[in-house]
Amino acid sequence: MDLKLASRQLFLMNRRHKDKFQYTVPSPTSYPYQWFWDSCFHAVVLSHFNITGAKKEILSLVSKQFDNGMFPHMIYWENQNKTDFPPIKWGKKGTSTITQPPMIAHAVWQIFQKDADTNFIKLVYPHLYHFYKYLLTERDPHEKHLIGIMNPDESGEDNSPRFDLPLNLPPIQTLERNTKRRFKLIKQNIECKFDAPFCMRNFFWVKDVPFNSIMVENLRLLSQIAEKIGKVGDASYFTKKADDISEAMRELMLEDGIFWSTYGEDYKKIKVKTWAIFAPLFAKIVKPEEAKKLVDDHLLNKKEFWANFPVPTTSLDELSFNPQGLWRGPTWIGTNWFVYKGLQNYGFQDIAEEIKETSIALIQKSGLREHFNPLTGEGLGAQNFTWGGLVIDMT
Ligand code: GLC
Repeated sequence: MDLKLASRQLFLMNRRHKDKFQYTVPSPTSYPYQWFWDSCFHAVVLSHFNITGAKKEILSLVSKQFDNGMFPHMIYWENQNKTDFPPIKWGKKGTSTITQPPMIAHAVWQIFQKDADTNFIKLVYPHLYHFYKYLLTERDPHEKHLIGIMNPDESGEDNSPRFDLPLNLPPIQTLERNTKRRFKLIKQNIECKFDAPFCMRNFFWVKDVPFNSIMVENLRLLSQIAEKIGKVGDASYFTKKADDISEAMRELMLEDGIFWSTYGEDYKKIKVKTWAIFAPLFAKIVKPEEAKKLVDDHLLNKKEFWANFPVPTTSLDELSFNPQGLWRGPTWIGTNWFVYKGLQNYGFQDIAEEIKETSIALIQKSGLREHFNPLTGEGLGAQNFTWGGLVIDMT
């Protein structure tokens, strides 16, 4: 299969038009709506062959920004009532009421790298400013400089074992049980009207490593966007905030060379090894000697993350590891993309190349599937799933 061609065809097939807006659905059958971080990935992929499409993907997202600055994790556009797709219970019409990892500054910066269109960044900057400000204020009520999520789905890794402890679930569980528990939390979120500080305090309060790493990297790029359009004060403000989060991550999450997500008001560490331990590499939060240890001891360890088809989302030696369990083991191209970029930041080019080669091998073997069994390479979940296109951006 010519992967570049296959991705272009898939992106064409999954493109949707609504009034003056255009967006891409992650999978026509399983995910027939627009998702926030998916669209950021889409814009990154589209920037390689359809820059106008990439910009439109971003413009459709910002058109649904909430008054408080939040971008919802799902926009239905249409057909909301035609399906019983579970997340429809998010308590609002037209969009969901939670967010997803803040990848939008990265996507916008990447578009700008391709065509240096200052008008485009001027147009979207106020939306970005408002969004990141929202996260910095509403999601950090204790002013500890870590951004909180009020539901596991905000991490983008819905049933990850990182959330078992805060959800009071055992490491070995069925997807049905996990979904039932998350539905209970959605009910509580609806009761607390998705008021983030209040909901987090009372029901679910996780400071997630990938979410915060992505925030740091995106604040740094937002700062560069601000500088390009002459907002010098904003630029230094966002750089300072990136530094604050990165310092807080080192202070509150780091132990024995690993950054752990934390939960509760006392910031207890959740010591479950998932791909998240590599996410800080993406934001250059790790010191070079720590990065080497992380890679040698964990990524290249056959008992942990160096499976036949790396990188499994959960370490092979965790009780919760399940090679077919969605975020509890399978390899996803999206997380491989973060690991690939992170490895490049520290000069591990050969290992990054291997991750790219495996990602390609998985797609060649099993098609553009949502995720893959890390032991056998078998394709799992949604068909015609867009995240495979990210291999084009592994450059
Ligand atoms: C699943 C994934 C989430 C993604 C969504 C749409 O829920 O866990 O990360 O955004 O599908 O692709």
